[in-house]
Amino acid sequence: MPTKTKEKKSEAEPTRRSFLNILWIILGGVALAEFIAVAFAFLRPRKLKARGENADSIITAGAVESFRPNSVTAFVRGKFYLACLEDGGFLALSRTCTHLGCSVPWIEKELKFACPCHGSAFDITGNVIDAPAPRALDIYAITIENNIIKVDTREPIKRNTFRVDQVTYPKKKV
Ligand code: FES
Repeated sequence: MPTKTKEKKSEAEPTRRSFLNILWIILGGVALAEFIAVAFAFLRPRKLKARGENADSIITAGAVESFRPNSVTAFVRGKFYLACLEDGGFLALSRTCTHLGCSVPWIEKELKFACPCHGSAFDITGNVIDAPAPRALDIYAITIENNIIKVDTREPIKRNTFRVDQVTYPKKKV
């Protein structure tokens, strides 16, 4: 009698083993499917977000008259400063320090941007006054149509130093 039970056990074992093998394959498949689903979910919203950002990247700053000469206005949306220079020209400056990327606040009293991280300073045109920043603040393209200033924040324009041809002037009224 005990031999029969043993025989039965050995017959049942391969079935149990193959059942466990199939179970592992199924669980592995489920895990792989979940991984793929998570990867898609992670990538998809980023693509949509990127498209949304492109659509929102042209920022209407306002009418030319609303900015007084020698002033700097911060724009949270777009993360830039609009500098109205003494001669009425405009520059859209990135708020990212060209040293290691800290945000640079505008210090109204001192008429300069002062980086809190390592002490770099920039003038109203974004030019370096104090190192270690290696070059001027990046700028963004500006268009002025019907006296309305628009800033294209899609791509910062890198530059070493300020040049007059970087300034955008409103069209003179005839
Ligand atoms: S990040 Fe601005 S000075 Fe270093």
